[in-house]
Amino acid sequence: MNDNIEKIKQHVQDLRAEIELHNYRYYVLDNPSIPDAEYDKLLRELQQVEQDYPQLITADSPTQRVGAAPLKAFSQITHRIPMLSLNNAFDDTEVEVFNRRVCEGLSVEHVEYTVEPKFDGLAVSLCYENGILKTGATRGDGNTGEDITLNLKTIKSIPLSLPVKNPPPLLEVRGEVLMLKADFLALNQRQLAKGEKEFANPRNAAAGSLRQLDPAITATRRLTFFSYGVGQYEDAHMPHDTHSNILSYLFDLHFPVAKECQVVTGLRGLLDYYQAIGAQRENLPYAIDGVVYKINSLSQQEKLGFVSRAPRFAIAHKFPAQEAVTELLAIDVQVGRTGALTPVARLKPVFVGGVTVTNATLHNADEIERKDVRIGDTVIVRRAGDVIPEIVSVIPEKRPNDSQLFTMPSHCPVCGAKAVRLPDEAASRCTGGLFCPAQRKQAILHFASRRALDIEGLGDKLVDQMVDNAIVRTPADLYKLGITALANLERMADKSANNILQAIEKSKHTTLARFIYALGIRNVGEATAKDLAAHLGSLNRLIEADTERLQQIPDIGPVVAQSIVDFFAEAHNCEVIEQLRASGVHWDEHEGKSSLSAAAAPLQGKTFVLTGTLPAMSREAAKERIEALGGKVSGSVSKKTDYVVVGADPGSKHDKALSLGIPVLDEAGLLELLQ
Ligand code: IVH
Repeated sequence: MNDNIEKIKQHVQDLRAEIELHNYRYYVLDNPSIPDAEYDKLLRELQQVEQDYPQLITADSPTQRVGAAPLKAFSQITHRIPMLSLNNAFDDTEVEVFNRRVCEGLSVEHVEYTVEPKFDGLAVSLCYENGILKTGATRGDGNTGEDITLNLKTIKSIPLSLPVKNPPPLLEVRGEVLMLKADFLALNQRQLAKGEKEFANPRNAAAGSLRQLDPAITATRRLTFFSYGVGQYEDAHMPHDTHSNILSYLFDLHFPVAKECQVVTGLRGLLDYYQAIGAQRENLPYAIDGVVYKINSLSQQEKLGFVSRAPRFAIAHKFPAQEAVTELLAIDVQVGRTGALTPVARLKPVFVGGVTVTNATLHNADEIERKDVRIGDTVIVRRAGDVIPEIVSVIPEKRPNDSQLFTMPSHCPVCGAKAVRLPDEAASRCTGGLFCPAQRKQAILHFASRRALDIEGLGDKLVDQMVDNAIVRTPADLYKLGITALANLERMADKSANNILQAIEKSKHTTLARFIYALGIRNVGEATAKDLAAHLGSLNRLIEADTERLQQIPDIGPVVAQSIVDFFAEAHNCEVIEQLRASGVHWDEHEGKSSLSAAAAPLQGKTFVLTGTLPAMSREAAKERIEALGGKVSGSVSKKTDYVVVGADPGSKHDKALSLGIPVLDEAGLLELLQ
């Protein structure tokens, strides 16, 4: 019997190795050696044996890539070595300066570099313990990321175990998760067919797929991984000489490494690579937003070291924002959450940087006048990264005779209320307030957004319908919704209606900071909401605070204070808040730092500004420690600043501190205070 199980165990191991090898050949080398049907047969056989002998299932079995239960939330993972970012160069001169500094720093004439594509995806870190993939995390803030292990395991090009006999005790592999352009187009087609929202670009699609709490959904999205480095390791075989050898080593361990990585010498080598990759960019299977140059020699890397959060030995050379020429067909006016009227150009569809653009923002009337944009013009549109496309300029020679000037409407195009433009503002605003359906929709969307009450699934199409059908007028109405009203809406199956109701129910337990932010008070963003929650500790105290009390809070000036007071002076705002509370929306009062006891929060009420590079602590670490003791870190020096902490090469903040007579600390002084 024992013999038998040993044999089965061996068979299972062989099957797994074979399947993973085919995965590798298919997903990494793009060179399968068996037909899909054969592969499926192997996988089914393994599934069968594992079903018969569940005791033989291991976490690194290819059957375990999918099938894990959905999570409630992601937990946090602290990176063993922080995940840093790269400095950017935007033109050849900046690359020249980088190369010169490197040569001077190393006292050499020419330097050898590894050059790589800059993948436009999401950075992740994969941790292998004794050869088995144990955890995978997002970059997060560089120190701590989210544990997305289950989602990463669904990516077939990520090895679940290392294909070596004596695996290293620890190996942290770093790289980028992305969606290939072809997979992105196919996904959007499926989304369209299902009547669901399309993703704007491959990066968003990859991010949305990785952020799923249910790995089964991630598994349906084809994601890809490219490795570009290592974090912490205990590995006798890790090359010690060059970065390019580390990449070769990762490739030998079956990690995908982009074919486009190369080794070049000197500035000429860098710029030639940039040109060559730029020329191939459109034809590459994945999206990139530049190239990365890294000094190849690890000892030279070490010699140059880091400056704050980025290495001195590497730089990203970004491609310029992408532009295209098209026709401006019409200008519509959109109404935002606070009533701001934004002119939006409707364009003849044009393909820019991997996506089809049909709209571009024109910002406001002054911008239209400054750029002299008219309806019918031929215009240059620009898309940079994730931001909304914009009109760069008009091509005047192409202006048709019948082009039309645009004027901002005097009334809101949605509710018809008068539009006004305050003397010191660029935007005209609808005065309809929450009686304007457009503002109401935006207010509800804001209330439900991820950083506010985070009601999953409540998108713009749904809110449009809810408001248009008058089943929801204010955020409080969301909590009165029943299944019938929801299921009666177009394209709303019982299951989706139930999911929305569940998400609404879940949102009832929130935090004071989120709740304040969700209210959509003008000039109160997420950071201010957090400050208000931390300093006042309760909603009633916020409602009762006058402008004077509010301005005692660091970073809150007269404009913000007035917006807050105005908001609570509106009876209907207070009514909505009352209804929300009555429906069960709740949070822990006295949350935040003000609830720390005086002993635990010795820095309560103290504001710090950090400037320059501290010798030992990163700025993030300093900020965390200050905040942990109840203090606050602000970006600018004012009379309200209590201490300015100064490191090497400080900026003008140091001078300002001296001129205002604010106490200046160095790192040692800060540490003393923290203790
Ligand atoms: S190296 C110490 N190599 O760019 C630097 N990063 O700003 C470690 N990225 O968050 C990163 N392609 O997500 C490196 N070939 C590449 C890259 C790359 C894309 C991203 C990465 C990182 C960001 C750095």
